[in-house]
Amino acid sequence: MKVLIADPISKHGLSILSDSGLDLIIKADSSLDEKLSAAKDVDGIIIRSGTKVDNKMLQIAKGLKVIGRAGVGIDNIDLVAATRKGVVVMNTPDVNTISAAEHTIALILTLARNIHLGHSTLMDGQWNRHNLIGTELRNKKIGILGLGKIGKEVMTRCLSFGMEVSGFDPFVNQDMFSDKEIKISGIDEVVSESDFITLHMPLNKNTENLFNFERFKKMKSTASIINVARGGIINESDLARALNEGVINGAAIDVFEVEPATDSIFFGMEEVICTPHLGASTLEAQENVALQVADQMSDFLTTGAVSNAINMPSISASEAPVLK
Ligand code: MLT
Repeated sequence: MKVLIADPISKHGLSILSDSGLDLIIKADSSLDEKLSAAKDVDGIIIRSGTKVDNKMLQIAKGLKVIGRAGVGIDNIDLVAATRKGVVVMNTPDVNTISAAEHTIALILTLARNIHLGHSTLMDGQWNRHNLIGTELRNKKIGILGLGKIGKEVMTRCLSFGMEVSGFDPFVNQDMFSDKEIKISGIDEVVSESDFITLHMPLNKNTENLFNFERFKKMKSTASIINVARGGIINESDLARALNEGVINGAAIDVFEVEPATDSIFFGMEEVICTPHLGASTLEAQENVALQVADQMSDFLTTGAVSNAINMPSISASEAPVLK
């Protein structure tokens, strides 16, 4: 059976797949056309966020049985079309969590202490310490929107800084947390009370443009927003306008409406810190997503076992032949 490696994964991950007898077609650094032509007769495709598995690729990949996403976000997969075609879509939901939470904290601290401006002005030979007075995080209010695995890890870390944490997530309620950890409120309340707002939700039709100019107007004028989740949740031109007009104070943006973002409305804006989708870019997360997606893909193709599928329940290797 053949697996198309459409985005880079670690050598270890590749060895797991080839050691299970799968033929690997490695097109991680190839053009989209080459990937499409390689998809024609594969059983599995492994991607990260770089390759889109859209309806066109699904139509070409006639024998496709499984898509493995090395990472969490599945917004680059046409899930409806894959499901209709009977293709199992798997991701690796746990292994990026700490890296994404730590990157969020790094950005919050950078915003609070002007680290980006200190660095860039000092590189220009300016000793600007009196103009770059920051704020402590202690006693500041952070609003966490999205309280899945990453949001909860961010919460724990913010508590260790003595921050007051509130949060909103349509799938949680206060009974799931202690009152000392977090106050669960409606989105408008969280947005209007917080000094920092951090986003930890998927991009979908309910979250696209969640932060538009109207919502920025509900934030404190001294507040900042951090997005390590997905581009598109924040409307970029509305954010630039909100910053330019002093509606809010700052932003840290790791994810963009269009990636790779080699040009952006934010470039050159002092109020914005930009990083190139680094949330899961740690040695640990990259290795672990590769190992996990390779294990899941080879189990599925060699035994029928399904784990971490988005569009079907988990099935063990012993249940698979019975259910088939
Ligand atoms: C994820 O969804 O796992 C992260 O954003 C990293 C990535 O897109 O690969």
